[in-house]
Amino acid sequence: MLSGIQPTADSFHLGNYLGALRQWVRLQEDHEAFYAIVDLHAITVPVDPEVLRRRTRASLAQLLALDVDPERSVLFVQSQVPEHAQAAWVLQCLTGFGEASRMTQFKDKSAKEGSGNASVGLFTYPVLQAADILIYSADKVPVGEDQRQHLELTRDLAQRFNNRFGDTFTVPEPFILKSAARVADLQNPTAKMSKSSPPGCLELLDDPAVLAKKVKRAVTDSVGAVAYDPIEQPGVANLLEIIAGLTGDPVTDVTARFAGSGYGPLKTEAAELVVAFAQPFAVRTRELLADPAELDRIMDRGAERAREATRPKVAEMYERVGLRIPL
Ligand code: TYM
Repeated sequence: MLSGIQPTADSFHLGNYLGALRQWVRLQEDHEAFYAIVDLHAITVPVDPEVLRRRTRASLAQLLALDVDPERSVLFVQSQVPEHAQAAWVLQCLTGFGEASRMTQFKDKSAKEGSGNASVGLFTYPVLQAADILIYSADKVPVGEDQRQHLELTRDLAQRFNNRFGDTFTVPEPFILKSAARVADLQNPTAKMSKSSPPGCLELLDDPAVLAKKVKRAVTDSVGAVAYDPIEQPGVANLLEIIAGLTGDPVTDVTARFAGSGYGPLKTEAAELVVAFAQPFAVRTRELLADPAELDRIMDRGAERAREATRPKVAEMYERVGLRIPL
């Protein structure tokens, strides 16, 4: 199993946690798990070097605070494992220009950068993601709904490589939860929660009072009674899914509990749960950040193990394509 997260913010948000990271913690129990902080992906848009370095460490501290276990799992930073970039180049040469142009995340992000200003790295970003997954022979990839199209591309590239050069790569399956696979923006519940829209985003390291206030101000609707209807009542459905995600209760049970009630109690419970989760998480993260040397040691050890795991697959890939095997 492999998954990744970008070090593009000072704090993970609730969407990251409910959509993906809570699975990372659970699945490490009975899978051989590889978890990457994907800093090569983070430089596809301009970023200050010191900010990137800080966020990479902060990402590691947060993953540890969530109980990703660096002994059981291989927890590493992508740039320290050159096999990712080595494999990505070969896969880029198998990717159609039109195929890459159809990636919706590229279309959205490049529109934000302004036409013509987006980097070529942003364009080939999904191919690097495919390399991340394929060189570990991952068969399961726990992610949120927004990554589905990238996983489809990964599957296509694995099959294409296997057809052209012989059976080399495992064709991976996405592992996307039914509930909270797409946590919505609290201010705009038809969009996904994202760090690029702070008022609707619950950053887990935020001040508890700020978190509670954001939940209480969440946009709902004029229906006035709680029901689970993501189309007609997307804001309410989002709060129900947040409660379900944080308590582990099925969304049907949570909905039954609030059936017919107004939105006040729903928001109060959601706010309490978010704060109860985020507060100890923030304390633990700060403790871990106080020892940067230990964080660096964990990163270096993870990178060694990730290299050991991927070197033979990249050598096989190069051999099959007719390249010289990397030393
Ligand atoms: P990233 O860094 O944007 O997000 C990390 C994980 O959080 C999930 N996520 C969400 N889930 C539910 N609701 C939301 N509002 C929400 N926002 C984010 C994402 O789906 C993701 O699982 N391209 C990836 C990083 C990546 C990767 C990989 C993932 C690079 N290589 C290989 C898996 C395998 C990304 O940008 O995630």
